[in-house]
Amino acid sequence: MDGKTAAIVLAAGKGKRMESGISKQFMELEGRPLIFYALDAFEKSPVDEVVLVTGAGDVAYCREEIVRRYGFSKVTAVVEGGKERYHSVYAGLKALRPCSYVLIHDGARPCVTVDVIGRAIAGAAEYGACVAAMPVKDTIKIADEEGFAAQTPDRSLLWQVQTPQAFEYRLILEAYEKLLAPGQDQQGVTDDACVVETMTDRRVKLVRGDYANIKVTTPEDMALAKALLSRS
Ligand code: CTP
Ligand code: MG
Repeated sequence: MDGKTAAIVLAAGKGKRMESGISKQFMELEGRPLIFYALDAFEKSPVDEVVLVTGAGDVAYCREEIVRRYGFSKVTAVVEGGKERYHSVYAGLKALRPCSYVLIHDGARPCVTVDVIGRAIAGAAEYGACVAAMPVKDTIKIADEEGFAAQTPDRSLLWQVQTPQAFEYRLILEAYEKLLAPGQDQQGVTDDACVVETMTDRRVKLVRGDYANIKVTTPEDMALAKALLSRS
C-alpha cells in the first residue's frame, strides 16, 4: 500500500430511464456535458488519480472532448465498461495503478462536492469501507405482489445510498473477483457496498452524503441538477 487514493467515475450506462437520444452522461447541463461536473469535483479533491469508464464507442470522445478539452490532469485512463454497472466497476478497478483506497462514483451524480469526497476518503481510512448516504425523508413501504402496502419499515433506520462509495483497494478488488467468479449469483447488485456486504465480512459505514448529490435518472432530474448546480 502506498497511501494513494484513486477514483473510478462511471459513465458506461445507457441511461434508458432518461428516454433521450443521447446518453445522459453526455447531455448538456449549463453549457457542459453532464459528466464534466463529477470529474471537476474529483479534479479539485485530494484524490490522486481518476479512471473514467465509458461505453466502447465513447472512449475516443471522452479522451478528446472531455479529458483533454477541459484539462482534467488527474484522469490517467479512459477505459471501456461492460454490460452491467458491476462489469464497469471491475474494468475500472483493473485499470488503476497501485493505490490504498478507491472511491467509486456514478458519473450521473454531477452535484457531488469536494466535502462529500473528503468524508468518503476519511471513512475509507477509518473503516475500510463506507458509502455516502442520507436519512430518507419519505416514508417507505414494502409492497406485496399485488401492489398493496405490506410493511412500513421504521424510517429512523432507513438511508438513501449515494456515491462516492469508498474502500480499501484490496478489499473491493477481492469482493468483485468473488462476485464475478463462475456460478456466482449477481442478481440485485446495484451498488458497491452490497458487493462488500455479501462477499466479505467487512461492515460498511454510512458517512454523510448531501441531499443535493442526486443521481440524474429521469428527465425531471435534469432541471433539478441545473437548479442545484447554479446555487452560489
Ligand atoms: N453505469 C456504468 N456501466 C453500466 C451501467 C451503469 O458505468 N453498465 C454507470 C452509469 O453511467 C451511471 C451509474 O453507473 O453513471 C449509475 O447507473 P444508472 O443511474 O442506472 O445509469 P444508467 O444505467 O445509464 O441508466 P438506466 O439504468 O436508466 O439505463
Ligand atoms: Mg442502470
